[in-house]
Amino acid sequence: MKIQGLLYASALTLLLPLTLGAQEPPNCLSCHADKDLKKDLAGGKTQSLFVEQKDYLQSVHGSLSCTSCHTGITDAHPSDQPGKVDCGICHSQEVEAYKKSIHAQVFEADPATAPDCLSCHGTHQIQKVNTDKYKRATLDQCGQCHEDYKRTYLDTYHGKVVDLGETKDMPLCWDCHSAHEILPASDPQSNVSKERALATCLYCHKDATTKFAQYDVHSDRFSVKKSPIEFWTYLVMILIVCFAFGLWVPHTILWFVRDWLENRKKKKDSGSNPPSETGGGA
Ligand code: HEC
Ligand code: HEC
Ligand code: HEC
Ligand code: HEC
Ligand code: HEC
Ligand code: HEC
Ligand code: HEC
Repeated sequence: MKIQGLLYASALTLLLPLTLGAQEPPNCLSCHADKDLKKDLAGGKTQSLFVEQKDYLQSVHGSLSCTSCHTGITDAHPSDQPGKVDCGICHSQEVEAYKKSIHAQVFEADPATAPDCLSCHGTHQIQKVNTDKYKRATLDQCGQCHEDYKRTYLDTYHGKVVDLGETKDMPLCWDCHSAHEILPASDPQSNVSKERALATCLYCHKDATTKFAQYDVHSDRFSVKKSPIEFWTYLVMILIVCFAFGLWVPHTILWFVRDWLENRKKKKDSGSNPPSETGGGA
């Protein structure tokens, strides 16, 4: 009786994974690892449905099953309409923050111009955010749409240090602007508004004052409208340098020419009338 029970129990444990396996959806990659799998879109275009297994397994989501994101897949697949993935199932905090941002507002009106989760993180190759590699990549990511602000950031103290390779304590775009709840500076709720900029600086500059927070971290020496003092100082310095070099270079050239002419004349004079060995006619 005892042995029978034991056999029964072990048979059950052996069968359990098999029965569970039978309930799993079909192995998605048996079809989606095919590089040529495509879907026809309107206007004769196609969309690749290929998923690179290696990238996927190395991503932060590599241990999740495909259907934990693609919740809409049914037995009828591929004739079903699985619908869009909702990152908020697992990242509700980020989704709520993003919904309040200017990016979400603009994205809703025109998806081509503003970023959503996928523009900044990707789909099947999403990586951890606290790595040096990702942090550096965010500069180009924000910079591809905010070129002027990337340029002015790299032109001022924080950006110059980051450009030299130090990202540890230095603020990147999102340290000041936040990553998900980005708002225009004119909105009092923005991290960089007049009301809240000081708190943002205080996060790292422990004795920052209101005056310190007014330091323009995007000061632009090429814009007379945004940074008139920097613009005029830069222009005057350039003019002084141009003026100095403009005088010095021709002056030096003329000096050489004069020297050369004088030497030639001296040689000529001494050739026709050689000085006496004894020191002249004294
Ligand atoms: C038998 C092969 C096959 C299997 C297995 C399969 N798919 Fe697909 N899948 C397809 C084909 C074919 C399409 C294109 C359907 C179409 O043209 O609308 C597709 C489309 C998709 C799409 C895009 C839908 C859209 O309309 O944009 C997603 C997402 C997807 N599959 C996910 C999955 C997931 C997740 C699994 C595993 C649970 C899976 N597939 C299993 C063949 C397969
Ligand atoms: C972290 C969530 C997540 C996981 C896990 C995931 N996907 Fe996706 N997948 C997405 C998102 C986001 C899209 C973009 C379209 C959308 O929003 O539905 C997408 C799109 C797709 C597409 C349409 C083609 C494309 O690349 O846009 C296919 C096919 C697909 N996934 C298959 C898979 C398969 C197979 C797996 C498992 C190996 C998987 N997905 C796992 C989030 C995920
Ligand atoms: C404009 C670019 C951008 C958009 C849009 C964006 N993110 Fe992020 N996300 C970032 C950056 C940069 C970080 C790293 C900074 C941080 O941790 O605050 C990050 C961090 C994260 C993290 C890790 C948070 C942590 O504390 O470790 C998650 C999860 C995340 N994002 C999910 C999302 C989701 C979901 C969406 C869509 C609602 C989204 N992101 C939209 C840029 C973006
Ligand atoms: C089914 C749940 C689930 C869904 C849906 C999901 N994620 Fe994740 N996500 C996770 C888990 C689990 C981790 C790993 C957390 C960890 O390792 O600390 C993670 C990690 C991340 C990270 C890295 C966070 C870090 O700490 O560096 C980012 C970024 C991220 N997800 C973005 C997204 C985006 C964008 C989507 C939508 C396309 C999405 N996730 C959908 C479960 C999910
Ligand atoms: C795909 C393009 C795109 C990406 C990527 C992007 N943005 Fe934006 N961003 C926009 C658009 C569009 C607006 C709406 C205001 C506008 O027209 O300039 C905006 C608005 C802003 C604003 C408010 C300024 C204003 O004029 O309203 C800030 C601050 C901002 N983004 C910072 C960032 C940061 C920081 C990142 C990176 C983490 C980033 N953005 C990534 C397109 C983008
Ligand atoms: C040290 C903090 C800090 C960092 C780092 C920073 N910014 Fe800013 N940013 C500010 C402040 C403060 C303002 C508001 C004053 C101004 O416009 O110069 C601002 C303004 C902006 C605006 C215009 C906002 C508006 O509503 O007009 C954009 C866009 C922007 N930053 C993008 C970026 C991008 C992209 C990066 C990274 C390349 C970045 N910022 C890095 C603090 C920062
Ligand atoms: C994520 C941290 C961080 C944030 C946020 C930050 N800074 Fe800095 N900043 C630094 C570090 C680190 C240095 C290097 C010198 C130091 O330690 O003071 C620095 C240097 C500077 C310098 C030049 C050197 C000095 O100390 O005078 C100025 C000016 C400056 N920051 C202004 C600002 C302003 C204005 C803000 C707020 C809008 C701000 N920073 C926000 C980290 C930060």
